[in-house]
Amino acid sequence: MKTVLPLGRGLFDKYISAPAYKVQTDHIDHCLSTRRSLNEKKETGADILQWTMDQGKAGNLDEKEVKSMARTMLGAGSKTTANSMTSATALLLQQPETLAKLRKELDEAFPHLSLPLPLEKLKRLPYLDAVLHETMRLRADNKEEGHWGKPVMLNKNAFMPFSLGTRDCIGKTFAWNELRVVIGHIVRRFDLEAGFDVSEIEGADFMTWQVKRPDGLPVKMRPRTT
Ligand code: HEM
Repeated sequence: MKTVLPLGRGLFDKYISAPAYKVQTDHIDHCLSTRRSLNEKKETGADILQWTMDQGKAGNLDEKEVKSMARTMLGAGSKTTANSMTSATALLLQQPETLAKLRKELDEAFPHLSLPLPLEKLKRLPYLDAVLHETMRLRADNKEEGHWGKPVMLNKNAFMPFSLGTRDCIGKTFAWNELRVVIGHIVRRFDLEAGFDVSEIEGADFMTWQVKRPDGLPVKMRPRTT
């Protein structure tokens, strides 16, 4: 069985503040107890939480390991995707012609503004894919030397946002889909206005590139009417 415990142990001890750690712990406890109550009523989920809990029941993981797996999923799967969405939005605001082209593709694919944009169709939009790939090429992972040792891959233009090999990102398909859904909906449904100087966005790498401005990247969003 492939567990993700080494990542969880190393990263979380070093990088998560005590209050954030407590919020995560409470949330994980809540999720586990809610799922356990559902399981008692014979309701199961078809997801990784259920799989992890089942491994616990089968004796393959102890309670501490189940919680650590849940923490890893939460940590590895939230800020990474959120930062990538922020990067995509910032880059689109920096390049209005790209934003306009993306919007045109979305408008043509989804003529009805009020209807949800199904993932199956979002997955087949070449320009949306290109925008997201370019965002990830420019802004994804470059490992921080202090924690990971000397980087093996020095060419920052190489495209491997989810790493490679047996320990690559297990959430990559999910992450691509989240990016398609969120960026697709935002661009199709909202007019965006940058509340920051688009020519200067300070950021730094940690798993994904992240903004280093004290007020984040404020963006005004107005619902489109047409
Ligand atoms: C844009 C979003 C994401 C990026 C850029 C990203 C990037 C990465 C990278 C580069 C690694 C490999 C780290 C290494 O070399 O050791 C990794 C591992 C991992 N990622 Fe992601 N990730 C993203 C989203 C997610 C999501 C959504 C999940 C879960 C729902 C997730 C779960 C994991 C886990 C559990 C590992 C460790 C895998 C292992 O050690 O076997 N990631 N991710």
